[in-house]
Amino acid sequence: MHRVINLNNSTHNLSTPFCGELAQELLITYGSPLYVYEGDRLRQTIEQITKAVSYPRTQFRFATVTNGNIALLKIFRSSGWGLHANTPGDIYLGLKAGFDANEIVYSGSNLNRVEMEQVLDWGIKTLNFDSLAQLQLFCEVFLDHAAESLSAGSRRTELSKTETQRRREADIRLGLRVNLPETGDSRIGVRPEEFADAIALTSKVGLKLGGLHFYRGTGTNATAAFTQVIDTVLVTAQKLPDWEFLDFGGGFGYPYHHGGAAFDWELFGAELTERITRLGREIDLVIEPGRAAIAGCATLLAQVVSVKWQAEKQIIGVDTTVANLSVPSVHGGYREVVCWKKADKIYTTDICGNTTYSRDYLGKNCQLPALEVGDIIAILDVGAYGYAMSSHFLHRPKPAEVLLENGTHRLIRQREDYSVLLANQVLN
Ligand SMILES: Cc1ncc(COP(=O)(O)O)c(C=O)c1O
Repeated sequence: MHRVINLNNSTHNLSTPFCGELAQELLITYGSPLYVYEGDRLRQTIEQITKAVSYPRTQFRFATVTNGNIALLKIFRSSGWGLHANTPGDIYLGLKAGFDANEIVYSGSNLNRVEMEQVLDWGIKTLNFDSLAQLQLFCEVFLDHAAESLSAGSRRTELSKTETQRRREADIRLGLRVNLPETGDSRIGVRPEEFADAIALTSKVGLKLGGLHFYRGTGTNATAAFTQVIDTVLVTAQKLPDWEFLDFGGGFGYPYHHGGAAFDWELFGAELTERITRLGREIDLVIEPGRAAIAGCATLLAQVVSVKWQAEKQIIGVDTTVANLSVPSVHGGYREVVCWKKADKIYTTDICGNTTYSRDYLGKNCQLPALEVGDIIAILDVGAYGYAMSSHFLHRPKPAEVLLENGTHRLIRQREDYSVLLANQVLN
């Protein structure tokens, strides 16, 4: 549905993402609860991040793990970004959104053989592996694929270099996700001392190991945590004789606490560019931001269905649940909750979901005015790991998603109904 909206309405309270009239109009049109994305804001963030890294051979790859809505992925595509896929499902969504396989980087973990074959069948060319076992499995599957494209009688171990094979090899870009002791304990990644074995594996099948993938941490706003390790990462990368690309990310933070520390893209971009330029060697730089790119462009709207007081504390019941947005309660993250009501007095308020699940809180100790049944609340910054982490736990269908763009709003994902609870069940 397309309707004209006004984002600059005079009653717009600056602590809310858009005016209260629009919030009401959206809930009347699409129902509650509702994920609302601001397309223009998303484009601005993409542009800001892109401009911050001036190194000319930079490719941005949006981490689809954070949000897989096709309409939003198309915005990344039209802004010149590719995708980072954590799983085969991320690749599937990316291809459906119109990305070319060449624009998708796979950097994931623990694929089985069938999935590895699928990834290769889809034509993914840049792949970062996080263990020698995964690299070895890839090499075996690659060899099988190459053998299939040769004459029927060829045996895997006697593979001769045909033109087809040579072309495939030239296309494939393999990298290792490095596990640096300097950045703490992690189950993921290959230690530098394993590089020699990794190179031996790939050279056996005629492939080069040209990439180093580095993930600093999860949602880190301390820019220094990234800049301080650049030198170590670059020194480590040079342990790969065929090194030709550096893949950095994600883990770039987003300031969920408004006014708090924010990741400094300009500083990070300048330092990374300066260090890579100083190398005196031409490499490609791949950057995989997730939450930093998309968190701030979305709001979950919900309506108050119950109000009660426990002494001075306001206990608000809303028509959404932790299953629609799991981060604040299940994963301990903070999301600001605001409303459009103006009042002199504010109260410590818990925002409770519409189930009796003991962790069904959308916000705890929020500072809000006295609310009434029917008031709208807005949970901010839910663009990353919001809908993507929603589930059917508690058997509530998922909300709809709407995109605000160029003065219009449109549905980009249908609200579910109860039929989803029967999907794939075998009813006799
Ligand atoms: C390899 C890789 N890149 C990027 C991301 C996105 O992370 P973030 O949202 O913290 O930027 C992830 C998250 O799982 C990841 O594993």
